[in-house]
Amino acid sequence: MITEAAALTTADLHLLAEAGGRAPSLHNSQPWRFRPTPDGRGLEVHADPTRAVPAVDPDGRALHVSIGAALFNLRVAAAHLGRDAAVRLLPSGEDAQPRAVLDLSAPGGTKHPLGDLYPAIAARHSSRQPFANRDVPEALVAELITAALAEGVILTVLEEHGVRRVLALTSEAEDRIAADAAREAETRSWLRLEPSVDGIPLTALGSHDRDARVPMRGFTGHPPHPASPAERFEALPQLATLSTHFDGRADWLRSGQALERVWLLATAHGLRASVLHQAVELPDTRWRLRDPVEGPGHVQLVLRVGYGPPGAATPRRPVEDVLDPPEG
Ligand SMILES: Cc1cc2nc3c(=O)[nH]c(=O)nc-3n(C[C@H](O)[C@H](O)[C@H](O)COP(=O)(O)O)c2cc1C
Repeated sequence: MITEAAALTTADLHLLAEAGGRAPSLHNSQPWRFRPTPDGRGLEVHADPTRAVPAVDPDGRALHVSIGAALFNLRVAAAHLGRDAAVRLLPSGEDAQPRAVLDLSAPGGTKHPLGDLYPAIAARHSSRQPFANRDVPEALVAELITAALAEGVILTVLEEHGVRRVLALTSEAEDRIAADAAREAETRSWLRLEPSVDGIPLTALGSHDRDARVPMRGFTGHPPHPASPAERFEALPQLATLSTHFDGRADWLRSGQALERVWLLATAHGLRASVLHQAVELPDTRWRLRDPVEGPGHVQLVLRVGYGPPGAATPRRPVEDVLDPPEG
């Protein structure tokens, strides 16, 4: 009787790491490393401290959200390989590596529904272009809320007054961030790492990609790019927040998993999305992002969803750079 799944092959590890590496991350920093577990039947997910973004993200909150998103892609890829995944977050404590372990040793066999999201991993991109003035159907909104809840995270789709409040806070944060020389320099240093996408200079990729990962700043009514004036965007964007009751590293990892679960599901349904992170980056605007009616809770992300053009693919580190070889 087979009691354990076979060890992961080199091809399995490659597929897993490639899927994990396609996750969204702050400034496309890709702050993760994947290491096969000693028994060869799982994967550890480590934070890569050389990929931290300390001026923008001093507590490593966004770093953990990004790692959480990668972790969710790993779970989807594992399901695609027919493996059941058991996940442990922070197995060695808050401050220790790895940040998560994916145990794939259970005998699989049952089709895991997460595997259906696998094609969406490659199809998902941040889309910072204007969207159509078309509402996301209620039934789909309900599915997205359920997807976030499955990861222990609350997705709140904002009503008009909430959208206007969040856009105003985003705009305020954007102004303050733009005036902060240390943040600006750090952001530019990330941009310099990736001057082109598939050989095409970022400047040629359209309004949203010109400054790559802090784009759409014009979206809130401060058009930094003449090519993307605010009025070209949908009249009232559809925004949602992802929130948690607590604000520790495990909550950040869960938020990243919820972000990616929602984003992949949205992608599978033909929706586009992008992140509006500015207001989450400053403690006071982040605090004011909370829904005053719903009370306490910690907003981890603001997501814009809608129907529009797909975003462009952004470069990723080669698999060899993010996957450690098996021990021995
Ligand atoms: C924590 C976090 C914060 C992000 N903040 C922003 C943001 O403020 N503006 C934006 O346009 N994209 C933001 N993004 C999206 C990343 O820029 C994007 O995921 C990355 O460049 C890779 O591109 P892709 O999503 O198309 O794969 C954020 C993503 C994460 C996970």
